[in-house]
Amino acid sequence: MQHQKILVLDFGGQYNMLIARRVRDLGVYCELLPWDTATEKIRAYDPIGIVLTGGPDSVYGKDAPRIPHGLLSLGIPVLGICYGAQLLAHTLGGKVVHAEAGEYGKRELSLCKASPLSEGIPAKSVCWMSHTDLIQELPAGFDTLATTAGCPVALFGNAEKKLYGVQFHPEVAHTEYGNKLLGNFLYNVCGAVGDWTMKNFAEEQILRLREKIGEGRVLLAMSGGVDSAVAAALIHRAVGNKLTCVFVDHGLLRKNEAEEVMRVFRGELGMDLVKADAGERFLRALEGVSDPERKRRIIGELFIRVFEEEAKKIGKVDFLAQGTIYPDVVESGKGKSAVIKSHHNVGGLPDVVDFKEIVEPLRDLFKDEVRRVGTELGLPEEVVWRQPCPGPALAIRIMGEVTPEKLETLRDADAIFREEIAKAGLARKIWQYFAVLTDSKTVGVQGDFRTYENVIALRAVTSVDAMTADWARIPYEVLERVSTRIANEVKHANRVVYDITSKPPATIEWE
Ligand code: XMP
Repeated sequence: MQHQKILVLDFGGQYNMLIARRVRDLGVYCELLPWDTATEKIRAYDPIGIVLTGGPDSVYGKDAPRIPHGLLSLGIPVLGICYGAQLLAHTLGGKVVHAEAGEYGKRELSLCKASPLSEGIPAKSVCWMSHTDLIQELPAGFDTLATTAGCPVALFGNAEKKLYGVQFHPEVAHTEYGNKLLGNFLYNVCGAVGDWTMKNFAEEQILRLREKIGEGRVLLAMSGGVDSAVAAALIHRAVGNKLTCVFVDHGLLRKNEAEEVMRVFRGELGMDLVKADAGERFLRALEGVSDPERKRRIIGELFIRVFEEEAKKIGKVDFLAQGTIYPDVVESGKGKSAVIKSHHNVGGLPDVVDFKEIVEPLRDLFKDEVRRVGTELGLPEEVVWRQPCPGPALAIRIMGEVTPEKLETLRDADAIFREEIAKAGLARKIWQYFAVLTDSKTVGVQGDFRTYENVIALRAVTSVDAMTADWARIPYEVLERVSTRIANEVKHANRVVYDITSKPPATIEWE
């Protein structure tokens, strides 16, 4: 089963992953490869079209990245975006110059010639620019298709050779007809048929997994999060109870979460799911610890130890399954930026399990695609749409030492927040929303009594990838209901505050 493929050659721009996501959303499978991939490899990959991305360089730079030698003569349609467009023009004999003033942000785009790329796009629309260099002269045989006030060549192409360039960014949401333009490239220029659907993906993966695993045994660490849940459901559909899942319950999950995992995966789906009740061990290990990074380290290490113990009981397995997704794969191939928080996700597991091979059925998927596969497989909505939860869970949402009493207070407050957000129909609009138990106590009054209790902070953010985030504009009435309920119903809480800080400069979690 071969899908049509689009290849995105990565020149280092910040939106490159987004381009790949957009292409997939438009129904064509797509992967990113580095710009210096050999032409032979690209030919063998057999894409129906190639996108050259933006990037931070100037085509005249000493070590500026180049288009792989001979790529433009393969007869494969090409769309250059931003730097990719300049490179395309420059490589074929056009002229790129350094502009006096760059263009950043929204600009009016004016079409000047009809083309397969601009079909269905009005004569004037808004596009989003981010460049200093610009194309001044086009190579022979190319036409200018659109301009902006500051950019004589905003869109250009050679219809016969199927080579196109676009100075603005069609992949960002601010470009009004960006998706239309990308779709035109795929369907009008590359001849896409739109064979990338999550239904196809799930069916194919199930067959592949069945073939690969055969009579072997598979082990998977289930966290309750979307990725491991969907990976488990796919593998279970393929090989049934040759899959064993281990769920380490560290006792730091949100209210009812552990029960929910057991109910859905063992109860409803009938999976062979082992639960390790390690709550007390984790609490003991965390006694007296208030430094966030130490909490993370302790939890990460103990998690692996508990998993190892469970895995030993199961004995030798043939495959270790993981819910790795595409952004993990691409990110881990790049240089690491400064470690702000040491995010542990079951990182060290492969070292403690005796197995022959790793199985990662979601390796090619973006998060939204993982959710769609989950839905295809009939997983309940609560699982598919679960918001991301950090590995150390509530331990890093309790400021200072973690104790059973504090966990109870936070769980109850958090459950109220989640309930009210769901009731208000906001659950899918907010990236993450949770309560934090601060280490401040304040004075309150309840009935005729003075209270001196904890402050609960509410955190809710919108985001696409958690790298940056904005605080969610939750309606006052919803906040009011949450605050009233928490202050009245939750033991040891008498005040509620709402966090209105974006990331940066704050982070999403408080610790
Ligand atoms: P921050 O707080 O760094 O969070 O803005 C960005 C995203 O990462 C999650 N996060 C973690 N995930 N282990 C995890 O698996 C961790 O230690 C951890 N700390 C933060 C956070 O929930 C957000 O989605």
